[in-house]
Amino acid sequence: MESIQLGNSGIAVSRLAFGCMRLVGDGSAGDRDKGKRAVQTAVDSGYTLFDHADIYAQGACETLFGEVLKASPSLRDNLTILTKCGIRPAPVDDATSVLGRYDFSAGHLMASVEGSLQRLGIEQIDFLLLHRPDYLMDACEVATVFDRLHRSGKVAHFGVSNFSPSQLSLLQSATRFHLQANQVEINIDNVTALRDGTLDQCMMAQMTPLAWCPIAGIAYPAWGSEFSEQTTRRVKDEADRQAQHYGVDPTVIALTWLLRHPAGIVPIVGSTTLSRIEAALRALDVDYEREDWYRLLEARDGHAVA
Ligand SMILES: NC(=O)c1ccc[n+]([C@@H]2O[C@H](COP(=O)([O-])OP(=O)(O)OC[C@H]3O[C@@H](n4cnc5c(N)ncnc54)[C@H](OP(=O)(O)O)[C@@H]3O)[C@@H](O)[C@H]2O)c1
Repeated sequence: MESIQLGNSGIAVSRLAFGCMRLVGDGSAGDRDKGKRAVQTAVDSGYTLFDHADIYAQGACETLFGEVLKASPSLRDNLTILTKCGIRPAPVDDATSVLGRYDFSAGHLMASVEGSLQRLGIEQIDFLLLHRPDYLMDACEVATVFDRLHRSGKVAHFGVSNFSPSQLSLLQSATRFHLQANQVEINIDNVTALRDGTLDQCMMAQMTPLAWCPIAGIAYPAWGSEFSEQTTRRVKDEADRQAQHYGVDPTVIALTWLLRHPAGIVPIVGSTTLSRIEAALRALDVDYEREDWYRLLEARDGHAVA
């Protein structure tokens, strides 16, 4: 697969990342086996960037990935492992009344990284991202945590997720580490990053935008989707038309639409279906016309550009 440098890190990663959020399915042995096959298929297809978070299935996705690495230790050298921290969900089966919250305190971040390292069975996290902005973030405290994590060799590079441009700038002003990525929802339904300065900031500061739920709006509704039935239909019709024109699946058009943007958006493919993991690569071969990019935008906006 073609590659792209993540931020200014000097690390080249696959142009499509593989998302590990759904790896364990319902947690049954059958779904876990399917998850392991999905990882193997992704590796065989050339994905080298794997996206995790400490909270995915309460850590079970990182554990499964750790089992795959343990079974094939040589894999580690060829893969770039990214994980996220900073969300503290309310405990499941909670009889206490502990509140789910964001938590960028030194104690929580340090403990979270230790947990991820143990579950993944690795010595170092390649990229650590703060998962969602903590409104109570003390940027200087976070900067100190980054120093400790880097000095101890536990984390090589840092970034953020779901940060607004101003939240990112605030943290960047406090830390000596270049924030390498902002992982946000970007798809044909949710184009906030296109319009709120997120992608502009990434381009100006040499940061990589990583797109979660890249095929939402075409395969399924985006988080908090505000698409009406009519908009959904318009987008589907246009995606179907383009799919036919380029000879690919409409979900491939969704990925192509992201890849066409000059910010170097890296879509994170989250399927656990082997054929879909492989088919996503077709997005890299589409010679996508500028006009078609705008046609899809027009279909979602419901009006032509002025
Ligand atoms: N930073 C954040 O806040 C955040 C939030 C969410 C996710 N993420 C990351 O982003 C990654 C990707 O997100 P995502 O998993 O939502 O990615 P996605 O690739 O947009 O969606 C994958 C989901 O769509 C289904 N799917 C694929 N093709 C389909 C089709 N043609 N019709 C119907 N359903 C289809 C897949 O089902 P099958 O598995 O059955 O193919 C799977 O459930 C996650 O794994 C995670 O790493 C980050």
